[in-house]
Amino acid sequence: MCGIVGYIGKRDVAPLLLEGLQRLEYRGYDSAGIVITGKAAAGKPGALKMVKAKGRVRELEAKVPKRFAGTTGIAHTRWATHGAPSDENAHPHMDAENKVAVVHNGIIDNASELRAKLTADGVVFLSETDTEVLVHLIARAQAETLEEKVREALRHVEGTYGVAVLHADFNDRIVVARNGSPVVLGIGEKEMFVASDVAALVAHTRQVVTLDDGEMATLKADDFRTYTTEGSTTTATPTTVEWEAESYDMGGHDTYMHKEISEQADAVDRVLRGRIDDRFSTVHLGGLNLDAREARGVRRIKILGCGTSYHAGQIGAQLIEELARIPADAEPASEFRYRNPVVDPDTLYVAVSQSGETYDVLAAVQELKRKGARVLGVVNVVGSAIAREADGGTYVHAGPEVCVVSTKCFTNTVVAFALLALHLGRIRDLSVADGKRIIDGLRRLPEQISEILANEDEIKRLAAEYADAKSMMFIGRVRGYPVAREASLKLKEVSYIHAEAYPASELKHGPLALIEPAMPTVAIVPDDDLLEKNRAAMEEIKARSGRILAVAHQVQEKADHTIVVPKNENELDPILMGIPLQLFAYHTALAMGRDIDKPRNLAKSVTVE
Ligand code: F6R
Repeated sequence: MCGIVGYIGKRDVAPLLLEGLQRLEYRGYDSAGIVITGKAAAGKPGALKMVKAKGRVRELEAKVPKRFAGTTGIAHTRWATHGAPSDENAHPHMDAENKVAVVHNGIIDNASELRAKLTADGVVFLSETDTEVLVHLIARAQAETLEEKVREALRHVEGTYGVAVLHADFNDRIVVARNGSPVVLGIGEKEMFVASDVAALVAHTRQVVTLDDGEMATLKADDFRTYTTEGSTTTATPTTVEWEAESYDMGGHDTYMHKEISEQADAVDRVLRGRIDDRFSTVHLGGLNLDAREARGVRRIKILGCGTSYHAGQIGAQLIEELARIPADAEPASEFRYRNPVVDPDTLYVAVSQSGETYDVLAAVQELKRKGARVLGVVNVVGSAIAREADGGTYVHAGPEVCVVSTKCFTNTVVAFALLALHLGRIRDLSVADGKRIIDGLRRLPEQISEILANEDEIKRLAAEYADAKSMMFIGRVRGYPVAREASLKLKEVSYIHAEAYPASELKHGPLALIEPAMPTVAIVPDDDLLEKNRAAMEEIKARSGRILAVAHQVQEKADHTIVVPKNENELDPILMGIPLQLFAYHTALAMGRDIDKPRNLAKSVTVE
């Protein structure tokens, strides 16, 4: 998804911005651009200088001329929405006089209407983008100051934006604004940064201010101030980002996906750290803002997320039902927000998101809050929009996840749900003995994850065995079903092999028709009360000459191959069973030569509709 980075200070700005853009590459993009304020000469303001390129940041870098000096600039990576990827459509966009430059994330909903009005007034558009209307609105604004010009322009705009604006006549500042698309200020010593993602600035400063929707800011080299789009001043106290700049590096791995899969034992250790209370066989989740009496009053739990986070939420709902006996279910936030949901005051809503910025999830949270619901967030990125919008919640502490495809964050999110379920369970009817049993199981996870990861060579061999498949079926029952869904998503998004996920119980109701030797099945077969049922499903597949790869706690005779994973408590088994299938998807994609960290057509955080 689009990325913004900006700088004002004393340093040479172009290399800084290019480095920032490289750190945003993981979000997915198709073109990039940079604009800087050139040096002022003989009492004249410095002209804006711009370079744009379709393709990767390195292609932009190659186009940047040698003489491209300046100490203020903004840059962008674009993910096409209005208009194809091209040099013209890449951001920044400028007005005819080259005075105003804008980079923009988000979508301006009334762009066509505004474009028609501006065209009728004689404005000539150079791109097909929605963003360009904003440039012309700012350029034509009658207000005196840049802040007021931007404010005046934004008043005409409907939609979402994170924007950064440079103006040749106001070359001591960058003005930024946020509505539904993240904007983070980085506070340095006599220098200021702005970005859409802390990844672009942690190498330079860890002091950040995250803007709220409806907030704007003016950045000068030695000062910043924040205010609303209506003009009233807001207070912004910088917070410290807990992630180190190094955690964004590849750390000796060939891809971020491999690095992040490999980090899972440590990541799970982190989400557990400091939270277990052995005395009462429960856990402390400091930020829930839900006391025991309120927790007892919850009659239903509804979990909302998208993609992998939704799958983590499905496992979370099962954990909550099993451990706390509260009816719970998960639904894609992208569906929920459009079906005019009945919002029940006794239901606790839980929004799940790695990035904390996914627009569909954020919009669902805002709709729920508007209707008076209580919403908790289960989020990875501290201070992100969903975390701030929620009434409370818990962070999953997975550390930065750079690969577009989510792995360690899925695992940590499920563990965070296990903690929430245990907490709610111990407030209700979960016994001390069962609480202790789950805690012991949670404590075993990091070592068991390391055991699974140590089996990578065997999983790689198996991936090669199945890499000829054009399509794969993933099946599981109850606890195994969301694991199957997530594993199927992993395989398709990173290898582009078509994959379907079905409850094993549904096979004979239709999908069995697909089974033949060319359509292998991955079966999730935990050693629990459904083991025999799962074996029966494998039998049905074998009878149709289907190949089977089982993920199980013991070798499965009916399967052609089995990946054996360590057994934990039944409730916690899903946390472990998905991990070998992350490696399976990874090695399949690697063997096929795929762009692992940036699969085609996908973006890391989907901050638009
Ligand atoms: C899949 C994947 C996506 C995200 C989804 C939600 O590997 O990463 O399906 O899970 O776009 O993103 P977050 O969790 O940031 O809300």
